[in-house]
This record gives sequence, C-alpha cells and structure tokens, in this order.
Amino acid sequence: MPEHIDLSPNPKSHIKTLARIGYNLNSAISDIIDNSVTAESNNIYTEIDIIDEKAVLIILDDGYGMTPETLIDSMRIGCKDPADIRNEFDLGRFGSGMKMASFSQARKLTVISKDSSSKPQSATWDLDLVEHENAWKLIKHSEVETNDLCSKFNIQFGKQGTAIIWENIGKYDGYPVSELQAVLGQDLTNLKSYVRLHFHKFMEGKRAINFYFNYQKLEHFDPFLRSRSGYQEGPSQKFRVKKGGSIELRVHILPHESKLTKSDLAKLGGTDQITANQGLYVYRANRLIISGGWFGLTRLSQLGKLARVEVNVPTSLDEEWSTDVKKSSLEIPHKVKAKLKQLIREPIKRSQKTYRYRGRLEEANAFWKVNENERDKSISYEIAKDNTLLKHLLSTLNNEQASTLIEYLKNLSAEIPIHHIYEKMSSEPNQINQNDISYTDLLEGLKKLWNK
Ligand SMILES: Nc1ncnc2c1ncn2[C@@H]1O[C@H](COP(=O)(O)OP(=O)(O)OP(=O)(O)O)[C@@H](O)[C@H]1O
Ligand SMILES: [Mg+2]
Repeated sequence: MPEHIDLSPNPKSHIKTLARIGYNLNSAISDIIDNSVTAESNNIYTEIDIIDEKAVLIILDDGYGMTPETLIDSMRIGCKDPADIRNEFDLGRFGSGMKMASFSQARKLTVISKDSSSKPQSATWDLDLVEHENAWKLIKHSEVETNDLCSKFNIQFGKQGTAIIWENIGKYDGYPVSELQAVLGQDLTNLKSYVRLHFHKFMEGKRAINFYFNYQKLEHFDPFLRSRSGYQEGPSQKFRVKKGGSIELRVHILPHESKLTKSDLAKLGGTDQITANQGLYVYRANRLIISGGWFGLTRLSQLGKLARVEVNVPTSLDEEWSTDVKKSSLEIPHKVKAKLKQLIREPIKRSQKTYRYRGRLEEANAFWKVNENERDKSISYEIAKDNTLLKHLLSTLNNEQASTLIEYLKNLSAEIPIHHIYEKMSSEPNQINQNDISYTDLLEGLKKLWNK
C-alpha cells in the first residue's frame, strides 16, 4: 500500500500565491457585485472612502443575506463544489470568488450579513493574522463587535443584506491622505465605467437593480447603442447545446460615429476605442465577460469596426467555455465559432454600407481609387468607375447584363481581403506577388464557364 502524506498548502506562502491570480481592482469588485446580484438585491452600494486616513472599500447590498451558519461556511475558500448544479441566475461557480477577489486587493476582508430572520453577524479574514499564525484562522465577531463594525463603517441594514469591507488595500499603501483622495477618485471613475458596461443588462428593464457609487446612481451603458438613431440590428440565432441551455448570437451594427453624441462617443472611449473594441461581447448569464476582440475569427473581423456580436451563454456551460474563477475570460468552443462564421455572412455587407462615406477620391492606378475620409480618418479602396476598359465593356451590355456586372464589381471591391493582405504584408512582405497570377489559367477557367 502506498503511503498517503497530508501536504496541505502552507498558509503563509499560499496566501501570497492566492493574492496574485490576476484580478485587477475592477474585476475583483465585479466578482463581489456578482454575489450581490445573485442574492437578488434591489440596491447595491459601492463606496471607496478614507477612514482613519486609510482607504476602505465597502460593498453593501439588500439581497437575501446569509444565516449565521452560511456566513461562516461562505468564508472558506472553495466553500462550494464547482460541479454543483446551480440555478440559472446564480453567477457563482467556484465557491471562492469573494475570498480570492478580496485577497487580490486587500489584506483584510470583513463580511457582515443578515438574512430576514437573524441579527447581523460578521467575520473577518485578516491575512496578517493568517500569516502570523501560519493557519487559516477566521475571526468571528460577537454581536457587540458586529454593531461596532456597523457604526465604524456606517452600515445600516434594512430587513436583510450583506456588506463586504476591504481594508489594508495594497495598491493604496504608502499614499499620504492628501494624495489618496485623487487616486481613489481616478479609480472610482474607472470602476464606474467598467460596471456600467459589464452589468448593464442588470440595470435595464423592469427588474432593474440600482447601482450606487459613493451615493450616486450609476446609469447603464449599452455597448450596442440600441436606443440611438442609426443603430442597426443584424441577424440572430439561438441554438440548444447538448449539455442543456441555449446559446444566443446576435449581430449589432453601431451608428456611424458622426451620428453619436459627444457623451456616447466618450463612453465608447473615442474613435480609436470604437475600432479597438469591435468584436464579440460575451455575456455569462447576462453579465458581460468579454468586451471585444474577434478570437481569431478572421472572417468575422471583416464585419468592420462598427460591428459587435452579442453572445449569450448560460452558466450551465461553464465547463465547455472554460470559465475562470475571475469570470474575466472564456474560451469559445469550436462548434460555436463555426456558427458565428455562418451567422455573419449578411451583416458584412450592412456594416460596410453604414461605412459608405463620401471622402476624397484619389487614383491609386487605372483600376482602383483610394477614398480617404478626413472626417473619421478612414480609408477605403474602390473600383475606378472611369476606367476606359470598364466604360467600353458597359457600353456593349444590355441593362440586365450591366447591372449583374455592377453587382459583381461591388462585391469584388467590398470583399477585398484587406486583413489577409495586411497580415501577409506585415509578416512576409515579399511573398505577395500579384504579377505572378496565371492568366492562362484564368482564361481557361472562364472559357469553360462561358461554354456552359
Ligand atoms: N452578497 C451576498 N449575499 C448573500 N450571500 C452571499 C453574498 N456574497 C457571498 N454569499 C455567499 O457566499 C458564498 C461564497 O461566495 P463566493 O463568491 O466565494 O463563491 P460563489 O459565489 O459561490 O462562487 P464563485 O467563486 O464562482 O464566485 C456564495 O455562494 C453565497 O452563498
Ligand atoms: Mg461569487
């Protein structure tokens, strides 16, 4: 019989590893907000404050809260089995987010919670204590201590709710109070932009949750600008997958920049960011996880910079999509990639239509014009309409033949494989040799078609 040796992680060094699994302030706070959303909160208050000259972060909700027993259980890393079947609105999976997200930012996590039938209870993970004791020793507070904590952090519960408090936040260490305010202000601004985008679906509709940041209500931001004029809805598709649950794909074409208000443009991050953020928007149970990027789907990238594809995935597919603890990355299964490619055939043309600007036309050569648009700093390549050969050819055709040819030329210019050319030009510029095209082959092929 082989010997079994207990080699539990050494707490002192383990906490240092746990603190570095890759959260940032925004993704860490979002993981805490996930729990408040799951707890069916109507209001979620996030506050970044200075208390006793130190930065403190508090997230308070009025969700269903925890019983005293659940509170203690929930403080354990891995308090739930990731394989458990959860209800479709539960954003949790690993039983770890609250702790891992907190430890990535703060050395002290206090949770105060009350369900509808109990008094507030609280517990604290103080990593200084864990390190000192070299053991996962949780601090459970008495009723009096819990009340003191509530007054210290100005927390008032209604019927039910939960407060998460972060102290000793690493990124604010060493700032004098005079500078801290500005640093916190900047972080708060970034956080608000992140949350209004990543949780926008929870802020809309009848069952909307109110999100407050330092007592100011946050307005949602829809990355597809559905309510703005000039927005175009593309095709959509819903399909069931083996493991249960459905995936929904929907194409959106943003209004052209010239139609956007200054405020919308700023929320989109300006013209550059509109281009940078084109791509897939993947939602896990309505919470945005991925915002932009084409995931190697090069055909999709031809949709253009105004295109955004909404992908809705249920949490039941976490395993297939390789959801990570941070809920900030996913992998798109091959089958879904194939569906996505299929879906966007039509909108490619639409997006390009939105982008038909009238810029300055310059001759590239006798067959092509370059259309440079000063207004939005964009360039397109168009077939030269005044080409002598083309003019002559058109004059020999009847109306129907001419319109078929025009349609063909339109597609030929719209489908020019710009991304492919660009990629090849930047990696192996000498490989492209247009002069090597075999015209005998072309002629032969066309002749065959003609005879048919
Ligand atoms: N705001 C809250 N209201 C009510 N219960 C909560 C709240 N926050 C946490 N909990 C309880 O604590 C448990 C642990 O939370 P934690 O975020 O660590 O894991 P999880 O949400 O189950 O899964 P994941 O690791 O994927 O986030 C939750 O499952 C829930 O029961
Ligand atoms: Mg969670």
